[in-house]
Amino acid sequence: MSAPVQDFCLTLLVSLFTLVLVASAYVRYCYGYWKRRNVPYLEPKFPFGNSTSLFPKGISIGAVTRSFYDKFKSMGHTVGGVYFGVEPKLVVLDPDLIRDILIKDFQNFTDRGVYQSESDPISVNIFSQPGKEWRNVRVKLTSVFTSAKMKAMFQTILDCHEGLEEALKELARQKSDVDILEVIGCFTTDVIGSCAFGIECNSFKDPDAEFRRMGRKLFNEFSLADRLNLFLSIYAPNLAQKLGVRNIQKDISRFFFHSIKDTVSHRERNNLRRNDLLQLLIDLKNSEMRLSMNELIAQVFLFFSAGFETSSSTTSLALFEISRNDVAQKKLREEILEVLAKHDNKITYDAIAEMKYLGQAVDESLRLWPPVATITRVCTKSHKLQDTGVTVEKGTTVLIPALGLHHDPEYWPDPEKWDPDRFSNENKDNRRPFTYLPFGEGPRNCIGLRFGLLQTKIALVTVLKDYRVSLSPKTILPLGVDPETFVLHNINRVYLLLDKI
Ligand code: HEM
Repeated sequence: MSAPVQDFCLTLLVSLFTLVLVASAYVRYCYGYWKRRNVPYLEPKFPFGNSTSLFPKGISIGAVTRSFYDKFKSMGHTVGGVYFGVEPKLVVLDPDLIRDILIKDFQNFTDRGVYQSESDPISVNIFSQPGKEWRNVRVKLTSVFTSAKMKAMFQTILDCHEGLEEALKELARQKSDVDILEVIGCFTTDVIGSCAFGIECNSFKDPDAEFRRMGRKLFNEFSLADRLNLFLSIYAPNLAQKLGVRNIQKDISRFFFHSIKDTVSHRERNNLRRNDLLQLLIDLKNSEMRLSMNELIAQVFLFFSAGFETSSSTTSLALFEISRNDVAQKKLREEILEVLAKHDNKITYDAIAEMKYLGQAVDESLRLWPPVATITRVCTKSHKLQDTGVTVEKGTTVLIPALGLHHDPEYWPDPEKWDPDRFSNENKDNRRPFTYLPFGEGPRNCIGLRFGLLQTKIALVTVLKDYRVSLSPKTILPLGVDPETFVLHNINRVYLLLDKI
């Protein structure tokens, strides 16, 4: 080897060695964050930190945060530090501290920390917007989800239950194993399609319709490029911004953008009105509230992404629990038939509101299976957490493990048992506040709570009034939870058998 080549190789080796030394010192420094702050922490491992993967499918991964909750709780801590990659995150376990973050001191925790990219207008929505912009939009949208507006929209939701009725009839006739998440997914697509987008999706007749396909893709199909984009948007949001990275797949974004824009133009051109969410947003756009067209489109997309998978998962997992509990199923059916009889055998808004045990059954399913298993907030102003001695620095993400709280035996005796009586009036009054968070809490809680509950209950009534449901032997137990998804997703699917009553 000649001398210049030798020199070059030596320089290269030295540079590489220095780089490795600097990088490992940097990682060690990052992983010292919680120790330097005297906060109990879980030992991280490079490169995942305490996460299971560098390439998750969402921002806060429910099953993983539940394991953090269980570990810190068993050590007697009220807060604890973890790392995703090299990013420090604070896990908060104590219900009083959770109350402070979500409500009392909300002004210091206004952000959710979800990536948004100016180059992709539909990503700039109420779920991802930071404090000031979020507040403006939230004020405008609050009027869209009042009880009165839900009541007015009830018939539009109910119109979609005919497709579900037809599908159930056919499935019961075939005596086949019913993939209930798929069936309910078609119903929720039709409801959201009709109420938020103003279009008839007919998912039951055409299960591969573009709308349904996009819904499936948004939550369940991630290419390597999608995972890389998500990785950058989660771990290096500033760099991702500069690179114009999108965290919503381009074809999905384009499809929603154009279909919403076309429907709005069609209605405005032809002076058409309809009782749905889209109409309420169009009215806001044309009022002194001045919602821009891009804002409108982004919010409609968000209603789809926030409302579709959460409601489908809630309904199908409630049916899963009901199918395994004959006593509760009988009690539910008796209540449903008795109330419907009082309402001319029609499903009405008031009839649904009268079904108390149904409400309890849904609440209990949301306890066992909260679709959004972790609530996140980003600290927007440095904040001292009561007398814990911990000060949360501006920019730190706080993880509130709803799934962990919902399964904690200190608050829920025999926590894995599905028991709707936990939500009877008497039992509800004895519950410790901030241990049940299926819709989050405080000014930034779920705005679509009433809508989500309404469509869930309509679907349950439609199934249970006509069919006895039992679990098919095809279902593999336990269902398991995919550790990497944002909206809770089971590893095994739920198959039910339907018997006509
Ligand atoms: C059973 C069904 C649903 C569940 C369990 C659920 C749960 C949640 C949770 C836990 C959050 C975060 C709250 C927080 O950070 O404190 C959330 C936020 C949100 N949800 Fe839902 N959701 C459901 C249905 C819906 C529906 C049907 C819509 C709209 C049509 C919707 C729209 C939203 C929006 C817009 C936000 C963001 C609110 C904000 O940041 O101001 N959700 N949801």
